[in-house]
Amino acid sequence: MKIVVIGGTGLIGTKLVHNLRQQGHNVVAASPSSGVNTLTGAGLAEALVGAEVVVDVANSPSFEDKAVLEFFETSGRNLLTAEAAAGVRHHVVLSVVGTDRLLASGYFRAKLAQEKLIKASSIPYTIVRATQFFEFVGAIAQTATDGQTVRLPPALMQPVVSDDVAATLADVAIAKPLNDTVELAGPEPIRMDELVRRFLSASQDTRQVITDPQARYFGTAVDDQSLTPGDNPRIGPTHFSDWVSRATLKR
Ligand SMILES: NC(=O)c1ccc[n+]([C@@H]2O[C@H](COP(=O)([O-])OP(=O)(O)OC[C@H]3O[C@@H](n4cnc5c(N)ncnc54)[C@H](OP(=O)(O)O)[C@@H]3O)[C@@H](O)[C@H]2O)c1
Repeated sequence: MKIVVIGGTGLIGTKLVHNLRQQGHNVVAASPSSGVNTLTGAGLAEALVGAEVVVDVANSPSFEDKAVLEFFETSGRNLLTAEAAAGVRHHVVLSVVGTDRLLASGYFRAKLAQEKLIKASSIPYTIVRATQFFEFVGAIAQTATDGQTVRLPPALMQPVVSDDVAATLADVAIAKPLNDTVELAGPEPIRMDELVRRFLSASQDTRQVITDPQARYFGTAVDDQSLTPGDNPRIGPTHFSDWVSRATLKR
């Protein structure tokens, strides 16, 4: 099967491309660095010739409200139009658990706009909403840092490792389109302040985490329901404690 991975050079994209190639598929890793730009449309029609499946794991280079909305809306439109012209039979996208509960954030308004375009298009689709990646925990710490302190709310999360996200996306890509949304989470719930504390400790980072129920998550208020999945998520098996003990962690 010819499968095009948009954002095929990113964290998830690189692993997904590898997984699908291991299974013998003809995989195109599409991104600006390989001459395919969904924002401008450059190289898109050529990359999609003969493709049966497209998996979109691209991300916006800017998270500024206007730029990120422009990225996901314009890229989404360009991609879906090119897919319709090429006869693509399944569009898979990676989104985020809780997207519709986090709309105070410009990033999540943009992700919801991306999902809506997909649902409104004629291409059969599967939306995979994942929780935060283990690899993203350092960025959560960074955004909440003031000097030597990291102020975070004790909101429940259920993070997942990128390898398990890529493995699930590979399964979804070669299965029939669900025309629905599925959720993916890690094996265990953990509070945000505690997750970051464990990450910093494993990284030998001396910053102190202060638990503050009023603290924001990337500027947005969160509670125990905001970032956690619903009743029947797919579960990535890797535990945070196993990952954190073997990953090379840098501040
Ligand atoms: N971070 C989390 O915890 C989390 C949780 C759930 C879901 N997600 C979702 O996961 C997805 C992938 O995240 P990631 O961390 O793997 O991203 P990433 O490592 O930042 O990679 C982004 C990819 O997008 C590509 N890209 C950027 N601009 C593009 C354009 N104009 N046209 C085509 N491709 C473009 C990049 O290509 P170049 O290398 O050429 O620049 C790169 O391959 C995102 O959609 C995000 O919303 C993230």
